Amino acid sequence: KKILAIHGPNLDLLGKREPQIYGYETLADINERICGEAKKLGMACDTFQSNYEGALVEKIHEALTDYDGILLNAGAYTHYSYAIRDAIAAVKKPCVEVHLSNIHAREEFRHTSVIAPVCAGQIAGFGSYSYILAVHALSELCK
Ligand code: DQA
Repeated sequence: KKILAIHGPNLDLLGKREPQIYGYETLADINERICGEAKKLGMACDTFQSNYEGALVEKIHEALTDYDGILLNAGAYTHYSYAIRDAIAAVKKPCVEVHLSNIHAREEFRHTSVIAPVCAGQIAGFGSYSYILAVHALSELCK
């Protein structure tokens, strides 16, 4: 099995970006942990980050043929991108929504996820450990 971890806008700045909210680990650190955990569970893993909605949509499309499941932190697109939501619905592969912060405990606009209804589930609020939990969830879903 092969999974794809996708990171949306501003997550390339992890480590420097509001560390009190998002932590001090860089995206490279987190990708290493995601793929390390996937490997332990017998899965291959690719990672991708973009600040552009269309690039994220096109990467999700690759799951049609190349991946068994998706782990997705869509960043702020979570809250309003119907294009990303439709892409997830289109590829019909399990997708686990991930957030570092507890989006439900923050500003009102972060409480809504337009992608949640097309994802298998949402993991939010555990910092970088959210991604590790998501790898385990995806491993079960891909069985
Ligand atoms: C985030 C939460 C979003 O509201 C925010 O726009 C992000 C990061 C998180 O991981 O906590 O960019 O997805």
